[in-house]
Amino acid sequence: AGEYDFVVVANRLPVDATVTGAGVETNRSPGGLVTALAPIMREADGAWVGWAGTPDLDLDAFDDDDIHLVPVPLTADEIEAYYEGFSNGTLWPLLHDAVVDPEFHRTWWNSYVTVNRRFATAAAKAAAPGATVWVHDYQLMLVPSLLRALRPDLRIGFFLHIPFPPPEIFAQLPWRKQVVEGMLGADLVGTQRTSDAANILRSVRRHTDLTTRGQVVTVGSRWTRPERHVRIAAFPISIDSGSISALAETPEVIERAAQIRRELGDPAVMLLGVDRLDYTKGIRHRLKAFGELLQDGAVSVPDVTLVQVASPSREQVEEYRVLRDDVEVTVGRINGDHGALGRAAIHYLHHSYPLEEMVAMYRAADVMLITALRDGMNLVAKEYVAARTDLDGVLVLSEFAGAADELGQALIVNPHDIDGMKRAILEAIAMSPREKRRRMRALRRRVLDSDVQSWARSFLGTLGAMPSRDSHV
Ligand code: G6P
Repeated sequence: AGEYDFVVVANRLPVDATVTGAGVETNRSPGGLVTALAPIMREADGAWVGWAGTPDLDLDAFDDDDIHLVPVPLTADEIEAYYEGFSNGTLWPLLHDAVVDPEFHRTWWNSYVTVNRRFATAAAKAAAPGATVWVHDYQLMLVPSLLRALRPDLRIGFFLHIPFPPPEIFAQLPWRKQVVEGMLGADLVGTQRTSDAANILRSVRRHTDLTTRGQVVTVGSRWTRPERHVRIAAFPISIDSGSISALAETPEVIERAAQIRRELGDPAVMLLGVDRLDYTKGIRHRLKAFGELLQDGAVSVPDVTLVQVASPSREQVEEYRVLRDDVEVTVGRINGDHGALGRAAIHYLHHSYPLEEMVAMYRAADVMLITALRDGMNLVAKEYVAARTDLDGVLVLSEFAGAADELGQALIVNPHDIDGMKRAILEAIAMSPREKRRRMRALRRRVLDSDVQSWARSFLGTLGAMPSRDSHV
């Protein structure tokens, strides 16, 4: 056993480490998970087990920004088979309702098992007797049960940051039973939406012979003696709302927001999209709606302009390359048809930016477009709301993003319904300041009331209140 009473296990560490001539250099790693957990970890004095983002790099544990980091090495082959393959070529599309075809390869699965075992072993080594271990996301779905086999004394939580599909879709997975039983090694399984939790429970009933009652699965004495209970429930994640609000109020950000409008040539209306360049985000559908609005003459350049930030992601995975080519052809076509010298219809930015710049963009944008075909939560929606301390701005939000469960005062759209999306964009552009304020006030109440700290407290509080492993029921 190790010395840490609280251990987070996630595919990525909060920082990416690279080796340079000067030694090891670290940079903040991508994704919503890091944004969510870094503030909590700083307070908790725990350890974080994860991959440092570079192949074949075997680093010793180190401290960064007050967090103790335990790197788990991955070989180049494992990155191909476990990370790009099974995690992002099989599970990612499958769990997002198979919006693109998941690929099933036995070599990918074998690597996934090997790597999950390595993460479980590292967590078992870091955790003190009776410690709490919190395992995250689809890359590590086998870790809860592998870890429990190594360390029955631990309290184990698992949180799935992405959706879980209906059993009709999940059943395609050749290793569906192993994956479901992998999660059930935890005492508490958390999801974003109640529908995700319900879907997991339905797959448990379909693919195992375990009994369920309400949100609770009883894991029988075939596995453990005495029997154990696993709770599966929704804990919608959030952001560090207070600090984003505060950042949005700083003179630097307010000035930068005004500067962004000037750099765009002072358009009457700035539309904004901010996504990882991922096919789940509905970027193609959004571009189609905007392109048609221009074609119809319902909006025109330079009055209206769209800024689309598409941050690079998973560039070695085939579907992501196809998407990038597609998006870039479409942007080029729309700009070619509707732009003029110095006046682009779409400002397309294939970059990632620091948070301050993102918050300035949120403050600058009249309309935020979130059109995901499927999304666990979508933290961009919440960040936009947190940044609008001025109560201005309109959020257009896909019903297929988890955020739609909480942010009902947004203009809710079905991204497959292009006409509906066009109407929502026009409605957002025409909305009166009074109506914008009314909606934004309600949205802000939600986002400020439940921040990422309360999310973690709620999950860990529920986990801590679960009957301990060795008590009879
Ligand atoms: C989503 C996933 C995270 C992942 C992030 C970035 O937010 O839920 O687990 O870390 O995307 O993706 P990447 O593949 O770069 O880690």
